[in-house]
Amino acid sequence: MHAYLADWLSLIIRWFHVIAGVAWIGASFYFVWLDNHLREPPEWKKQKGIKGDLWAIHGGGIYEVAKYQLGPEEMPRKLHWFKWEAYSTLMSGLALLFAVYYFGNPGYLIDTSKLALSTGGAIAIGMGTLIGVMLIYEALIRSPLSRNGLAFGAVLLVILVAVSWGMFQVFAGRGAFIHVGAVIGTIMVANVFLGIVPAQRALVNAIQQGVEPDARVALLAERAKLRSTHNNYLTLPVIFIMISNHYPMFYGHAHGWAVLAAIGFITAFARHFFNLRHQGITRPSILVVSALLTLALIWAMAPSRPDTRLTANAPEVSDQQIRVLVEAHCQGCHVENPPHPAFQAPPAGISLATLEQLKDHRDQVYQATVATEYMPLGNTTGITREERDLIGTWLRQVGPE
Ligand code: HEC
Repeated sequence: MHAYLADWLSLIIRWFHVIAGVAWIGASFYFVWLDNHLREPPEWKKQKGIKGDLWAIHGGGIYEVAKYQLGPEEMPRKLHWFKWEAYSTLMSGLALLFAVYYFGNPGYLIDTSKLALSTGGAIAIGMGTLIGVMLIYEALIRSPLSRNGLAFGAVLLVILVAVSWGMFQVFAGRGAFIHVGAVIGTIMVANVFLGIVPAQRALVNAIQQGVEPDARVALLAERAKLRSTHNNYLTLPVIFIMISNHYPMFYGHAHGWAVLAAIGFITAFARHFFNLRHQGITRPSILVVSALLTLALIWAMAPSRPDTRLTANAPEVSDQQIRVLVEAHCQGCHVENPPHPAFQAPPAGISLATLEQLKDHRDQVYQATVATEYMPLGNTTGITREERDLIGTWLRQVGPE
């Protein structure tokens, strides 16, 4: 019953988190698009201080959008702010982190072969990393480094790769992956909360008081622009991390942190193409290079099958040997009514109650157990490398080839 309700809880939070994220990133994509499609307004609008003009049709109606150089002479009674989308994405994301990783199934987060963490220890490392990296980012963006966009980007990339490496040293693959995503998400929300919203507030205050924005307001605005550029580049990697969390081939990879770093670079680079194009520069070479790098990554990550250690002349493995191994290492979770308290149905929908079922899932089992060592989850059952190879050899013996 506990596992059943816990599943509902995490499903509902996840649902909310995705909706909040869609609203946030959707609004952010929309405003980037808007900015890049503004046209020069007619003279009468210019005289009102409008610098960009745009017409659009959507949902059966025609919209007229105007962007002011600074602001209207008088502030409208209702000015819409876009911030709760970001805040609710962070809050639901944190709730999910606690529900799924810290208090859900420890196997997602704790890998005793890396570090035998207690729940408290895992929370301390996880939350400490989120806050620590966010503070480092905040220190950097307030430093002279913020004047050099390219150098800042490079430093940020190095920091995130280091975080990725570090998380993989202490957490199980899936937990490590999601923590890198959470670090990026936290930086993005901090950008809104600590930079973009204060800059907007300063601008609105200046307009309300009828004064020209001073140097402080201008500096805040300049940094807010940089923050918003960073957020823009980070959206694609962060979404990739969210969905790749359902593909053990990524986070279960022996060099998961490097895979993550490569994907972060490729997706942010691809984003660069669109950003340039919005500025009227079309550079298809960026997309070509991104595609080639992706192909290289697909090649580099390919599972090493057939494994040279599991050559055809390896000694025959009996069904009985495998039955014993599966019972000891898999059936605690992968059966109709799992004895494991965290599951109320076979995880990933895969039941391994019989050898036939093991065969039905041979490719996935090979990938998860032999190639990546992702299964048994967190290796709580203490399977050995030799036992994994037995399973690998058996799968080849009974395999179609
Ligand atoms: C402690 C519980 C547990 C044990 C023990 C366990 N698994 Fe899993 N297994 C899971 C969970 C949970 C998932 C879903 C993974 C996810 O969502 O990241 C999973 C997923 C899988 C998948 C699907 C991976 C994919 O491609 O999506 C396979 C295959 C698998 N397990 C095989 C095994 C085999 C074989 C064993 C025994 C050697 C085993 N598991 C032992 C919990 C367990």
